[in-house]
Amino acid sequence: MQDLSRADLAEQVIPSLQEIQERLGYIPREAITWLADKLHLSEQEIYGVASFYNNFRFTPPGKHHLRICLGTACHVQGGDRLLAATSEKLGIKPGDTTSDGRYSLERVACVGCCALAPAVVLDDVVHGRTTQRSLKRLLDSIDREDRKAKKSEGGSQ
Ligand code: FES
Repeated sequence: MQDLSRADLAEQVIPSLQEIQERLGYIPREAITWLADKLHLSEQEIYGVASFYNNFRFTPPGKHHLRICLGTACHVQGGDRLLAATSEKLGIKPGDTTSDGRYSLERVACVGCCALAPAVVLDDVVHGRTTQRSLKRLLDSIDREDRKAKKSEGGSQ
């Protein structure tokens, strides 16, 4: 084990964590073990860095990945209330995935369309000027499409 400051640790660990998350969509427990071994650090040190930053997730992303922007413009326009309401509706905290694996929720910093605040990104599509009502409609329409797709899959067998 080395004696590193938090900043040195972060500098050493974050690029690898980013690469793992980019490839797998999350940071599995085995990856922390592997990285600790590779960098000659303890698993606690790796986990400490990963959990300090909000942008790492430890559960696989859901079928539908919902990111709610909490950058300054979106925060001012009610992004935090939108996140709280969505978190309650889905029954998960940011960074988690619903038990049925359908939705994952994440809070993100600016997604680059501040004029449309508050913004959410659902499955890589940006939705601007989002309200709790419009987000509910969006999630309801996703649910309907998924049910339709499931029904037609069942019918084609
Ligand atoms: S702050 Fe949300 S898009 Fe810029």
